Amino acid sequence: MTSLYYALIKAVQVYDLNNDVVQRAAKKFFSYINSLLNIYSRIILVRYRDYIFFNKERLRFEIDGYASLQFIHDKLKKLNIKSLIFSSGIDKNEIVTFTSIFKEEKETFLKQFSEKKFNHINIEFSTTEEELSDYLHDGERIKRTYFRALKTTKDLMHNLGTGQPVDIRSSKRVIYNLIDALFQDEFGLLALTTLKNFDEYTYNHSLNVGILSLTLGQRIGLDKKNLVKLGISGILHDIGKVIIPKALIYKSQRLTDEEWKTLKQHSYYGVKQILKAYGLDELGLISMIVAYEHHWNYDGSGYPAHRQNQKPILFSKIVRICDSYDAMTTPRIYVPIPYLPHLALKVLWKRRNTFFDPILVKVFTQLLGQYPIGSCLELSNGEIGLVIRQNQSNSDLPIIKIVINKDKEKIDGIIIDLSVQNGLKIVRPIYLQKYGINPASYFV
Ligand SMILES: [Fe+2]
Ligand SMILES: [Fe+2]
Repeated sequence: MTSLYYALIKAVQVYDLNNDVVQRAAKKFFSYINSLLNIYSRIILVRYRDYIFFNKERLRFEIDGYASLQFIHDKLKKLNIKSLIFSSGIDKNEIVTFTSIFKEEKETFLKQFSEKKFNHINIEFSTTEEELSDYLHDGERIKRTYFRALKTTKDLMHNLGTGQPVDIRSSKRVIYNLIDALFQDEFGLLALTTLKNFDEYTYNHSLNVGILSLTLGQRIGLDKKNLVKLGISGILHDIGKVIIPKALIYKSQRLTDEEWKTLKQHSYYGVKQILKAYGLDELGLISMIVAYEHHWNYDGSGYPAHRQNQKPILFSKIVRICDSYDAMTTPRIYVPIPYLPHLALKVLWKRRNTFFDPILVKVFTQLLGQYPIGSCLELSNGEIGLVIRQNQSNSDLPIIKIVINKDKEKIDGIIIDLSVQNGLKIVRPIYLQKYGINPASYFV
């Protein structure tokens, strides 16, 4: 529907309203709307935050139709429109007239909308402030899902490490819940991946890789069945490490060659562990392949050794990227200061074609934005803001919460959408840890 409307808007921008191209595009959109109005009494498009809902169902930003959905979203945002309602009885002319004013700037649009009478198109307006106020407070369900998933990940790894039986059903249930959370609000879920636990590194890391992989998988259009396999594979990618001595995994000095060799064995051990727990069904098989291939590079290098023309499967390539990103942005004993998120993305970008699949890196970078959630930005007025959300169309101007004031004191500041706020500039990303603050504490 948004693609058809996008086509009509474009036609109206270029041609006269009576032109054939406009009329044809209007006819197509009208007949589609009409067929929907036979099923539903009204068609309600709601823009809420970064999303568009069609009769309460969220439309997903996928590669197909991405541009049109984004365009309409941005247009609605600029016009301060919260919902757009079409009702039965609408005709082609009303659609064309509405479209001709929809392309205008806010003031002109508002004036013309009240002047020209629209009998079957209604609009509800909203203010940005209204939407921003509850960004950090309404993700309770998502948080519960995350922490339940973390508990299941711990149990899973613990049981495999100690040779106890594994509850496969509960690991699947966790993935289904994560997918639901993802469809509800991927940014809310992504925010939780900034949670890095120094002591329980492997648990948080495994879950974060699972979540990042699901988000990337969703963005490239995988269906739910495949997302389940991808999510489990992501969580289990390092499961082989339960066999490696803890002293080696948490060693703070440089590893010797011999120790490296042992650590690299976790790819083999992973296969063994998954086979034991999941058997040879499809889910088990794919997770085994991913555990085996997740350190294979795009150019044929990486371990375990393999022929250069042997390419990793799609899921392994996804996990390879998410694994590296999460590892780089997490403090560990031998790398206590992690990469700032935007620098970790730069590393991925630099190593596309060698380590990482270039197209997947591109989608991943678009997904996380120039300053991923959890980044801290010093602003031109001396304040410091924490990135709490992306603006899909303005990846360099995210939504932030002010956490440090001009006098460098910690405050519970306001939330600002940098894409709407004029005059405030980003000076540079910084480490919030410098001020004794853990960015993740704002998200939990
Ligand atoms: Fe690994
Ligand atoms: Fe890993």
